[in-house]
Amino acid sequence: MSVSQELREQVMGQAQGALSLQVAFIGVVNALFSRLHELGAAGAAELAQAAGMDTGYVTRWCDVAYAFGYLEDAQGKFALTPLGVGFLPEASGTLMPFAVHSVLSAHMAERAAGLMPSGERPGEKVLAERATILPWFGPMLETMFGGLFEREILPRLPAYGEVDARGGIAVDLGCGNGWYLRKLAARYTRLNGIGLDGFEENIRQAGALAQQAGLAQRLSFRQGDIHEFTIEEPVDLIAMNRALHHVWDEKENVFRILKEHLSPGGVAVIWEPHWPAQRSALRHPSRRGMAFQNLAEHVQGNHFLRPSEIEAEFTRVGMQVETYLFANDNEAVVVGRKPA
Ligand SMILES: C[S@@+](CC[C@H](N)C(=O)[O-])C[C@H]1O[C@@H](n2cnc3c(N)ncnc32)[C@H](O)[C@@H]1O
Repeated sequence: MSVSQELREQVMGQAQGALSLQVAFIGVVNALFSRLHELGAAGAAELAQAAGMDTGYVTRWCDVAYAFGYLEDAQGKFALTPLGVGFLPEASGTLMPFAVHSVLSAHMAERAAGLMPSGERPGEKVLAERATILPWFGPMLETMFGGLFEREILPRLPAYGEVDARGGIAVDLGCGNGWYLRKLAARYTRLNGIGLDGFEENIRQAGALAQQAGLAQRLSFRQGDIHEFTIEEPVDLIAMNRALHHVWDEKENVFRILKEHLSPGGVAVIWEPHWPAQRSALRHPSRRGMAFQNLAEHVQGNHFLRPSEIEAEFTRVGMQVETYLFANDNEAVVVGRKPA
């Protein structure tokens, strides 16, 4: 058996792609792209000092970042190339999430490989095992999905405007860094929001970002478990974005919580990746990431859902249901309305 040259070259190209994102990850999490952008052009020692990093490591990083085309030689100093500028986390349309996702995926792949013999599924804590990745989890998701939310989901769902008209309350269960409520509150100025998440780091970021955006009066965030969520007054909207599959093993309790805490006519807005009915659909390049993610979800004790499964739960608890598909049908938003 021998491997063809064509296949070898194909995989070598893929290997370089993975390496290039790993190099970018180091530059993102240690703010090397950002500091170099501020400096304009700098030697490795100057960049290390500006970033508060070790000169030896930064020197090696500059060499590899130059090799992969993130840095150019500017008269003996380093400067960002347009590709390097693309990884600035603050750039509009930043490439940052690809770098973070690449290293998070490598971590999850290593965990899946090691856990496969025993079948152990350690749960959510696996996400927090890498200190450099955890703070980037929220920004990664925000930049991956925030644009789609603003461009397509917000304008298409009437429910948000209804909550705003009442000056109502929207709750986000599993809120991450709080981007969804921030975007909602920025567009709908009478609406108030409450976010809940299990990770302390997410709640810290959510509070700080709401403050920075001038929304702290209307948005509050707290650490807690979705399974134990409770609030005194009924709310008008409960959102769960990429969070329901995390708590699906106790779905009866979750759908009870949704229905009990909504006011009459209130809506639960569930956004999940749309796991396709046919395996053949996973071959499409736009779904390969989802297929890998579902393996990573297995490590965490979860699996992705089909919209029909979510619809069935809403129907079971006596709520009317409507499903919206986005992004080539890869994203599903299932809206359940409590009877008025
Ligand atoms: C994939 S992330 C999505 C975060 C956010 N909704 C977004 O769209 O960026 C899932 C989130 O659910 C949270 N989560 C999962 N299970 C939870 C639970 N039982 N209680 C509270 N938060 C939970 C995680 O901490 C994580 O932030």
